[in-house]
Amino acid sequence: MTDQKGFAGRLTSYGDPGFSKYLRRAFLSSAGYDAEDLERPIVGILNTTSDYTTCHRDMPQLIEAVKRGVLEAGGLPFVFSAMSLGEILTNPTTMLFRNLMAMEVEEQLGNQPMDSVVLLGGCDKTVPAELMAAVSSDIPSIALVVGPMMTGNWRGERLGACTDCRRMWADYRGAGLDAEEIAEVTQQLCPTSGTCMVMGTASTMACVTEALGLMLPTGATAPAVSSDRLRLGVRTGREAVRLIGDPVTPREILSEDSFHNAMTVLSAIGGSTNAIIHLTAIARRMGIRLTLEDFDRVSAATPLLVDCKPAGKGYLPDMHIAGGVPALLAELKPLLRLDAKTVTGKTLGELIESATNDTRWQTTIRTLDEPLGDPGALVALKGSLAPEGAVLKVAAASGRFNTHRGPAAVFDSQEDLEARIDDESLGLTEDHVIVLRNIGPAAAGMPEAGSAPIPQYLAKQGVRDMVRISDGRMSGTSYGTVVLHVAPESSKGGPLSLVRDGDLIELDVERRVLDLLVDEQELARRTPSEPRAIGRERGYRKLYHDNVLQAPEGADLGFLVAD
Ligand code: FES
Ligand code: MG
Repeated sequence: MTDQKGFAGRLTSYGDPGFSKYLRRAFLSSAGYDAEDLERPIVGILNTTSDYTTCHRDMPQLIEAVKRGVLEAGGLPFVFSAMSLGEILTNPTTMLFRNLMAMEVEEQLGNQPMDSVVLLGGCDKTVPAELMAAVSSDIPSIALVVGPMMTGNWRGERLGACTDCRRMWADYRGAGLDAEEIAEVTQQLCPTSGTCMVMGTASTMACVTEALGLMLPTGATAPAVSSDRLRLGVRTGREAVRLIGDPVTPREILSEDSFHNAMTVLSAIGGSTNAIIHLTAIARRMGIRLTLEDFDRVSAATPLLVDCKPAGKGYLPDMHIAGGVPALLAELKPLLRLDAKTVTGKTLGELIESATNDTRWQTTIRTLDEPLGDPGALVALKGSLAPEGAVLKVAAASGRFNTHRGPAAVFDSQEDLEARIDDESLGLTEDHVIVLRNIGPAAAGMPEAGSAPIPQYLAKQGVRDMVRISDGRMSGTSYGTVVLHVAPESSKGGPLSLVRDGDLIELDVERRVLDLLVDEQELARRTPSEPRAIGRERGYRKLYHDNVLQAPEGADLGFLVAD
């Protein structure tokens, strides 16, 4: 921060301060800015539109709303772009580039003149990347997302991205739908602009950002196409100017209490397992270490309250109508740390003082007395197969395999899985445990391949869930008994690398155990599977491969964390 706001007081980078100001004024005047403009405080607005990020396609309209808010409050809006990580069209996975985007945004926040910033995002990795950058650059920041899509319809059935995408595809694979029908469904899954409207990673990160106090109330849930969203944009712009007069930075706002509140909301919404990695990474940017045990402890004390897919039946627009995150926070009050600060200058407790969860007319946000599901939506597992931990989203599993012992069917990579999963000669049954290795951070950038498909011949017999275990991730919109983030990953010598077909594996959710039931002498005799590495040779991929931390540490690059 400089003492003087706006461009006028900016320090020089040319050695001669007078010359620097003169040169900057010359170039800014070419864009139509006069002396009066340049005295105003500057609000940077981070633009993450891209034709490749379909979820952000209405962002230009939202940016206009934010700009109006900034101008009304006496600031000067300056829009700038960063890489946009669109979940669906980025290969091999946006997770590989989350840290790159975080680095890019951090450098732009720190090295372009701005007195505060509005961080505009939405799609899964954009919000965590922006928050990681905001914490590291530590300039006054306020988050705003594009908001969720509305739902579609097909033959009287409400559909949404992308829990229903998966269910309909599973039906098609199981021959419940024909080619014409699945083509019709394709037109209805994503009917408007906005982010996936189930409680996937985008929705989860939006709710969690609101719980962290970095976004205005209801900012997580207002639909992308709603006027609520536009008004949030205007208010966020005004708030960004107010922040300059009363500067408070992300590191001053966030605390262990804020992360406790975020973990509580994550559990109550039955949110995406990806948020565990992202929250851990954001916290470590300021030297707070969240462990898998922290997530497990908070989850075990927090019932599932929000009825959204994949853990429930509804969608984000329903949650918005029900009062959004403020109503949820009001319900969760006894479990929250209400003294946590927020970007508004109020504590979280003050911010939700007048919020209520009124269940007389809505059933999307349930009460602590009558929750939708038991506590423990997310559990952390440990055992001889995952010495440093693994996670399971119990709320999205069928429950049939929560205590299970079955023989392993091992796949060495995503390609191996794709090539062989439907091969009937493997003779898999629903009791088999599908083990997919070499999709961890260093091996593959952690693609969302962890929710391996049910073999087609079993799907046709009606099998919809099996135990699946990997060192990768799954989409927040997925469901099933899918054990993820196994650490250490196979390519870093984790026990996953030693599993062979037919080995017995035990999962026990109650005891939080994931064991490979093979004796140690036998394991010592085995040769680990060939490690894989993503892009060891050059460029960002080399930087990533050489420095990425394991999932329970946030999968950030080691030199970017604060501790
Ligand atoms: Fe962007 Fe789902 S693909 S939010
Ligand atoms: Mg996703």
